[in-house]
Amino acid sequence: MSDQSLLILFGSQTGTAQDTAQRIARQAKRRRLQVRTLPLDGYNVATLISESTVVFVCATAGQGDPPDNMKNFWRFIFRKSLPAGSLCQLDCAVLGLGDSSYPKFNFVAKKLHKRLQQLGASLLLPVGLADDQHDLGSDAMIDPWLYSFWQKFYSLHPSLKALPCLKDDEMLPPTFTFDFLQGDTDVAKQAPPTEQTVPSSLCPFPARLLSNTRVTDVSHFQDVRLFDFDISGSNIEFCAGDVVMMRPCNTAEDVQQFCQLLNLEPESSFTLRPTGNTEVPVRLLEPCTVRHLVETYLDIAAVPRRSFFELLSTFAKDELEREKLLEFSSAAGQEDLHAYCSRPRRTALEVLADFPNTTAEIKVDYLLDLFPEIQPRSFSIASSLKAHPNKIQILVAVVRYKTKLYNPRRGLCSNWLASLDPQKEVNVPLWVKKGSLKFPKDMDTPVIMVGPGTGVAPFRSVIQERIAEGKTANVLFFGCRSEFKDFYFKAEWEEKVKEEHLTLFTAFSRDQEHKVYVQHRISENAELLMDLMVNKNAYFYIAGNAKEMPSSVCDALKGVFQERGGVSAPEAEQMLAALEKSGRFQTETWS
Ligand code: 2AM
Repeated sequence: MSDQSLLILFGSQTGTAQDTAQRIARQAKRRRLQVRTLPLDGYNVATLISESTVVFVCATAGQGDPPDNMKNFWRFIFRKSLPAGSLCQLDCAVLGLGDSSYPKFNFVAKKLHKRLQQLGASLLLPVGLADDQHDLGSDAMIDPWLYSFWQKFYSLHPSLKALPCLKDDEMLPPTFTFDFLQGDTDVAKQAPPTEQTVPSSLCPFPARLLSNTRVTDVSHFQDVRLFDFDISGSNIEFCAGDVVMMRPCNTAEDVQQFCQLLNLEPESSFTLRPTGNTEVPVRLLEPCTVRHLVETYLDIAAVPRRSFFELLSTFAKDELEREKLLEFSSAAGQEDLHAYCSRPRRTALEVLADFPNTTAEIKVDYLLDLFPEIQPRSFSIASSLKAHPNKIQILVAVVRYKTKLYNPRRGLCSNWLASLDPQKEVNVPLWVKKGSLKFPKDMDTPVIMVGPGTGVAPFRSVIQERIAEGKTANVLFFGCRSEFKDFYFKAEWEEKVKEEHLTLFTAFSRDQEHKVYVQHRISENAELLMDLMVNKNAYFYIAGNAKEMPSSVCDALKGVFQERGGVSAPEAEQMLAALEKSGRFQTETWS
C-alpha cells in the first residue's frame, strides 16, 4: 500500500463509532489521501500486515464487550498463535468511544491498543478515550486527539503535506448517486428467509405481531407493554438471556414532512450508483422508492451529530442559516450545538424544519451521507420457547418524556411498536442474538435474580425455562413503584409462588412514605441469600436501568457477606469479584 493510503476500521454498536470513522475519512479525503473505511468484520484481517497506516475506531458495548461488527476480528487478534512481532511494519492509532457511566469504560479500545503494541505495531499516539458522558459530547476529546493524529501522520509522511487540500467550500462527491426511474416501476420486495437459513440482520424473519398489551395501569405514568410475536417456521432458536433485534420505522407523518421539506416525491423510485468503492446497502433493494428509503433506512428521528451540521452547512445559501450551521460545525460552537440539539434531544427532522432554506437546497444524492442508517434495537427476550412454543415475547417501556421543546420526545422503536395493531396482520422483521446473561445448565443450582422494572424481562424467560425442566430453586427480587400500577406479571408470579416454583420478594417504592427498593429486600433476607450463595453455589443476576440500582444492589450483597459471613469490607469485595470471575455474578444494564 502506498504512503498516501489510510485505512480506517471501526467497531460500532449504535453508529457513533461509524460516524466518527466516516468523519475521519472525510478529513482524509479533503487532504487528498486515499482512504478506505470498513467495519472491522468487513475487512480481511489477514492483510493487516501489508497496510501502512490504520486508525481503529472502537466503541465498547454493554458490559465491556466488543461491538457486533468486530467480534470476529476480536477473536482473531487475540489468538495466542499470532507471533509477537507480526505487525511490526504497521503504524496505527486507536480511538475509543465509551461511556464513563458504565464500569468498563472504553475497555475495548484500551485492550486493543495494548494488544497491537504486543504484536509489534507502532502506536502513533496514546489511545483516545472519548466519553459520551462529557458535557460537550465525545468530540471534546476527539478533536484534539485527531489534531495530534494528523500532526504525527504528517511528521512521518512529510511529502504528503504538499498535496493540495480541498477548500472549505468545495464539496466532496456523494457516496452514491441516485438514478431516478421513469414511470411506475415494480419495487423490489425483500425475499423472506428460506427454511434453511437462520434469520439475521441481512435476512430478518417477518414475525407476525400477535398482541400488543399494556401491562401497567392506565393511571400509571409509564406505558409498559408486552409484545407477542409468532416465529413459527422461522428456524429461530434461543435460550433465556438471549435478545431479539429489530429495526424500527419512521412514522408516516415524519416521512411526509421530510419529503415536503426536501421537495421529494415519495413514490418516485430510483437505483443507487456508488461513486467510489462503497457497496450499495443490501437493505436498499433496487429499485427502491423514496418512501421506503425514508421510512425504513434514514435515521431522521435521531439527534443529529456534528457531522450532520458540517455537511448541511455546505448546502446553505441563506446567509443567516449558513452562519449558524457553520458555527454548529465548528469546534468553538460545540457548546451552543449541545444546548440546541443534544440537551433538548432535538431530532434531525426538527433541525431541517428550523433551516428550511438550506433543507430545500439539499441534493438528493447526499441523503445517505447526511443521515445514518436506522440502527437495530435489542430487547431481552421475556419468554421461553418451553412455555410459549413458536413465540417471542418482549417487555418494552414506551419512551416518552418532556424536554424544553414543545413536543414530547418519543423513543423511535418503542413508539413504533406501540403503534402497531395486531388486528391488521403486521409483520415485524426480527432476528435473535446471543445475550450476555448466561444461566447455569445444572437445574439443581439455585438462581437469584434482581430485576426491578423492565429489568425483569430476561428473568421471566429463565424462570419459565427452568420451571419447564421440573423442580428448580428460583428467587426473584422485583421492584416497581406500586403494587397496583406497575406490578406486571403479578398473577403469573403469584401462581408460581403458590406452586412453590418461585420465591418472590417485592419492593414497592412508592406505596408508603419512605422508599423501599430491591436492595433493602436483599439486606432483609441476608440469611437466605448467604445460605444460597455459600452453601448451595447459587448464581446471582442483576438486570435493569444503569443508574444507581446495580451498584446499590452490589453494596447490599457485600453487606450480606459481611454481616452473615463475618468478613471484612475488602474481603466481601474480593468475594464478589471472585463470583463475577467464575460467572456466578452477572449483570445486564441499559440506559
Ligand atoms: P422510584 O421511581 O420510586 O425511585 C423500577 O423503576 C423501580 O426501581 C421503581 O420502583 C424505582 O423507584 C426503583 N428505583 C429507582 N432508583 C433505584 C435505585 N437506585 N435502586 C433501586 N431501585 C431503584
